[in-house]
Amino acid sequence: MQVLITAGPTHEPIDPVRFIGNRSSGKMGYALAEAAVARGDEVTLISGPVCLAAPRGVARTIRVTTSDEMYEAVHAHLEGIDLAILCAAVADYKIADVAEQKIKKEGCETLTLELVSTRDILASLNFPKKKFRVVGFAAETNRVLGHAREKLSRKGCDAIVVNDVSRMDAGFASDNNEVTVLFREGDEVSFTNAPKTQIAAQLLSLLGARYKM
Ligand code: C5P
Repeated sequence: MQVLITAGPTHEPIDPVRFIGNRSSGKMGYALAEAAVARGDEVTLISGPVCLAAPRGVARTIRVTTSDEMYEAVHAHLEGIDLAILCAAVADYKIADVAEQKIKKEGCETLTLELVSTRDILASLNFPKKKFRVVGFAAETNRVLGHAREKLSRKGCDAIVVNDVSRMDAGFASDNNEVTVLFREGDEVSFTNAPKTQIAAQLLSLLGARYKM
């Protein structure tokens, strides 16, 4: 099957030398890409800024920096895909007016930045007559499954993979993860704490069996 995967954080520029980012390492998305290649899938990996080499065997890797670039790259690569797994930790906000020159601190005791919402890439894939499945991720710190179920229906995806990022032994930047997959049909499947490479392989075989791909 043809799989599109987003991975890593996005960086939203403030001025030519500064940005707003987050702690996503990209490990989960890259592990998914590797697991998909191992299954024989054709993989398009759209990656934010991370310190990871593209997994061997990935058909194409598109490196982007900002949420807008990730949005454009995803929409440019939807043709022919069977499954989109949006694993990236896309920034929720970007700077309203990016400064053309480096912002100087001299004479400024406080600095206020105006932020505006980024476009939601996952929600943007919920269009009529699409021919592929969409799986999102949700990192939550409280009422984990409840928030994730709401997200699943709000964003119109087929399934959402949820992890509890308040835990130190799994999730962001960790090599391990512990996730529950919520399907739009109402059922759920949990994977116990394991290396992200193992979670990725389990996830892909679950989705492959579920969607007969
Ligand atoms: O709303 P939240 O950021 O918690 O949703 C997480 C899910 O939505 C992830 O699958 C993430 O890749 C996706 N997302 C996105 N574009 C955004 C924000 C989140 O694709 N602007």
